[in-house]
Amino acid sequence: MSDPPSYEELSANFSWSIAEQELGHQPGDPINIGWMCSDRICRMGLANKLALHWEDYQGNEKQFTFDDLRVLSNTIAHFLSELGIRPGERVCLFMDRVPELYIGFLGVLKMGGVVQPLFSAFGDESLFVRLQDANTSAIVTQKKHVHKVRKIREHLPNLRYIILVDAGESPLQQSEVSFPMDQARRIEDFAVYPTTAESPSVLHYTSGTTGQPKGAQHVHYSVISQYLTAKWVLDLRPDDVYWCNADPGWVTGTSYGIIGPWSNGITQVVFDSGFNAERWYEFIEKHRVTVWYSAPTAIRLLMKEGTEIVQRHDLSSLRHLASVGEPLNAEAVVWSQKVFGTPFHDTFWQTETGCIVITNLPGMPVKPGSMGKAFPGITATVLHPKTYEAVNQTGIAGLIALRPGWPSQIRGYWNNEAGFKAKFKNGWYLCGDRASIDADGYFWFMGRDDDVINTGGHLVGPFEIESALLEHHAVAESAAVAKPDPVNMEVVKAFVTLKRGYDPSGDLELEIMNHIRKRLSPLAMPQEIEFVDCLPKTRSGKIVRRILRCKEFHEPVGDLSTIMDD
Ligand code: PRX
Repeated sequence: MSDPPSYEELSANFSWSIAEQELGHQPGDPINIGWMCSDRICRMGLANKLALHWEDYQGNEKQFTFDDLRVLSNTIAHFLSELGIRPGERVCLFMDRVPELYIGFLGVLKMGGVVQPLFSAFGDESLFVRLQDANTSAIVTQKKHVHKVRKIREHLPNLRYIILVDAGESPLQQSEVSFPMDQARRIEDFAVYPTTAESPSVLHYTSGTTGQPKGAQHVHYSVISQYLTAKWVLDLRPDDVYWCNADPGWVTGTSYGIIGPWSNGITQVVFDSGFNAERWYEFIEKHRVTVWYSAPTAIRLLMKEGTEIVQRHDLSSLRHLASVGEPLNAEAVVWSQKVFGTPFHDTFWQTETGCIVITNLPGMPVKPGSMGKAFPGITATVLHPKTYEAVNQTGIAGLIALRPGWPSQIRGYWNNEAGFKAKFKNGWYLCGDRASIDADGYFWFMGRDDDVINTGGHLVGPFEIESALLEHHAVAESAAVAKPDPVNMEVVKAFVTLKRGYDPSGDLELEIMNHIRKRLSPLAMPQEIEFVDCLPKTRSGKIVRRILRCKEFHEPVGDLSTIMDD
């Protein structure tokens, strides 16, 4: 097998038109991700190639060829159109990692709808906030999750349909419809809606420091970046069996769990199951996985299980490993090289970037602990936090910034122009992270530049947690911050002041925990509540979470005078 081209070779004369040409897209023509990932692959003669081999924790399995993807996504698109869902309307996918989620994603896009994928683990409050904000028209879900939708249904007047993919004989309530994908009449031909480059495609909700989660609006043209980065960074080749651990409720699970591999015509395997080292290794062995895209939290869990368990399995099929979501510890890189014979390659990006922007490309020497270099076609630097000028000095920390304009950059936050504008300074897009750059152009991640908590690769905004806490009758004020955790890197800790007449106690802590448990996703749940007399604030009354966070991490809090003058 020939070596992959070097970073320099790939960067020389780079243009995103490389992807346009390979995908057969002419600027100005319609472009539809649903079509790109199914019909186009069939036209290339790969109709009978395996697209998805799905398995769940009970050992159930299903297989779909690219032609199945094409026909079944047509079937879903047709069904939604017949219901009266119009192009541009938001259709939420609220399911476990079942085939209907993956194929439904393509189906919604084919009829011109905007996909709003949400984690099936979300509690009713987290779900409500996002459906209300997006003014969602329909939600596709499963029997086991529909109770959460029913609970908030009456407060969502614009939600016209609740579509159940596994209703069976269960009684349906008002505005609920059954859509058993496997039994539906298969639609061979569907007139794919002629979306263009700038037509909205996916609306992913992501957390910021202030306010409710923001809907990051992607467009169909994003496939240009997702196709090429998947091909080059994940090193996808025609015979690969690709496994992405991420749930499509998270951008990794759509950009590289659907669009990236399928626009490349690659076979992927999906395991609808939580973490279990033994089962994961068995899965790789059984399916002969060649390319594996995972996350540091999972890798840390695997490291904890040791090497003996690795040796009990034949993992020789693995050729390329990549990681995303949190800093990838140098130890994890060294460990993976030792036990799998190839290191995990770090990739850095965000919901907002839509594609990998800083990375270790396969041909580049990996420096353990570094995220690698800017992907060709991405101009990345670090800026001085006050002047927003490029730092231009090796080893000095600054704000990670990207020159706007790559194809998969989001086009805005849903109904939140001010929030989107605030992400740009001096002609740069600010990621909200800090890093330094070494003499070879490698980025070294240092931390986030805001109060967002990264727990197991998932971003949690303090606002949602604090709002849920404030709904409890004893809570006067609260601040949610990160505290260190050996596996998830960070977990949520809440500081709470109580209203007059309430005293801190273990029972009260439990009561507050129970109160917020159902409202939030399990990830956002504080692992600890600490009752305090007061919270640190600026003179203008803003809570300074950074002080609390630094104490948890035993880091110096730095210069407080400027903060207090805020
Ligand atoms: O803080 C960075 C962290 O995750 C953030 C983006 O989170 P999200 O929008 O949920 O998208 C995650 C999947 C693309 C970043 O701003 N992050 C992501 N990748 C890395 C990382 N931190 C360190 N190293 C990474 N490789």
